[in-house]
Amino acid sequence: MRISVLGVGYVGLILSVSLADFGFEVTGIDIDNKKIDKLKRGKSVLHEDGLNKLLEKHVNKNLTFTTSYESVTSSDIIFLCVGTPQNKNGEANLNFLFSAADKIKAYLDRKEYKVIVIKSTVPVGTNRKIKELFSDYNIDVVSNPEFLREGIALQDFFNPKRIVLGFESLKNKRPIILMEEVYNYFKEKDVPFIITKWETAELIKYASNAFLATKISYVNELSKLADKVGADIKIISHSMGLDPRIGNKFLNAGIGYGGSCFPKDVRALIRQFEDNRVEPTLIKATDKVNEEQIIWFFNKIKEYFNNNINQKTFAVLGLAFKPNTDDLRESRGIKLIDLLLKEGAIVKGFDYVEKARENAINIYKSDKSEASYGYNLYILDNIYETVKDVDGIVITTEYNFNKEDWEKIKKLIKNKVVFDGRNTLDAGKIKKLGFEYYGVGR
Ligand SMILES: NC(=O)c1ccc[n+]([C@@H]2O[C@H](COP(=O)([O-])OP(=O)(O)OC[C@H]3O[C@@H](n4cnc5c(N)ncnc54)[C@H](O)[C@@H]3O)[C@@H](O)[C@H]2O)c1
Repeated sequence: MRISVLGVGYVGLILSVSLADFGFEVTGIDIDNKKIDKLKRGKSVLHEDGLNKLLEKHVNKNLTFTTSYESVTSSDIIFLCVGTPQNKNGEANLNFLFSAADKIKAYLDRKEYKVIVIKSTVPVGTNRKIKELFSDYNIDVVSNPEFLREGIALQDFFNPKRIVLGFESLKNKRPIILMEEVYNYFKEKDVPFIITKWETAELIKYASNAFLATKISYVNELSKLADKVGADIKIISHSMGLDPRIGNKFLNAGIGYGGSCFPKDVRALIRQFEDNRVEPTLIKATDKVNEEQIIWFFNKIKEYFNNNINQKTFAVLGLAFKPNTDDLRESRGIKLIDLLLKEGAIVKGFDYVEKARENAINIYKSDKSEASYGYNLYILDNIYETVKDVDGIVITTEYNFNKEDWEKIKKLIKNKVVFDGRNTLDAGKIKKLGFEYYGVGR
């Protein structure tokens, strides 16, 4: 079977290498020349465990990369994995998707049967619109939302909890059989297959992400009360999580969720409610709590310095929105750096992932962040250099910083205070060393 994948970002690249590993002939297509040049040489453009190995194994064998759409002519299946970012009004921007769909038209024979699979996260009704675009072609459109998590993307791809497939009609068996063939590996592993109609499949993805975001906002809201009354949210979360009806995942209080999916998907879902005149009371609150959480934490830092952080120096530990990724989209670390810089602070930023550091430098170099602050920001590649002579440490990404040498940090730092925005540190140990410790709700 021949497969084309349009858009080789996080989702499309992981899909391309994985389908190649299943033995299919795969062509990854992207409009980004630089990305394609690197991939052609078998070099990864993302930081993901195992990705380099799979690229080495398959590139220029059964996996090729190109900027040309030509391969769609001979493909049985065309996956659309382009970005669906957020418009200013919160709705999903479908320009990349419709542009990609439009471009492939010229390469298709109207009579030859093909399946177009939409893997991008798209609002309800999008699969139907894509089908309308190809109404005079022999094409079926399938909704196949993706659930991988950055940082463990390959592990997630090969061990999915479910495969969701949405179709125009369940009476038409042809695309169903073809998709089951693509994912036969998972069929054999007894992964549940949800075979349903387009609208349900489209909504499953938003429902899942908004639910996880809501769980985070719930515990974050609670953390503010815990903070006020002297309770410990970490113990509360742990205790709640022991109840299997609640579960312990996505229940760590912190400075809020970020990343390429949760913030935009929550807002796109709100828009879908509003477009259909249904009030999204709970989901709106999820978004509001998330936006307020980082401000609340920032104010806590400011209060410590009597509301004047001008010329104070901070070590911000964590740039990416979560551990082991280079993705800075909606990262709370970057947001916090922006807030600190805006009030005149000097920031030394650090992340364990080299590409995350490079991406951070690029954001500020290209003035794409909320503002540009000249020389008040330094991105360093060594944690001990980062904490040297600072007025405070701020933890923004959920890494296990306990493994660092805090005796050494104690000697390097100017003012022994830690603001743990992810509640990752062993607070007792840190305090014993003579640090002042401020967590989230504890
Ligand atoms: N990143 C995740 O963890 C994740 C998880 C699940 C679902 N999703 C969803 O998957 C979709 C893709 O997300 P991503 O994070 O992989 O995005 P991304 O920005 O990393 O990658 C998108 C790629 O599409 C390319 N592109 C844009 N227009 C194109 C065109 N006309 N032809 C070919 N390529 C084109 C871009 O150059 C880019 O490389 C989004 O809808 C997202 O919400 C993402």
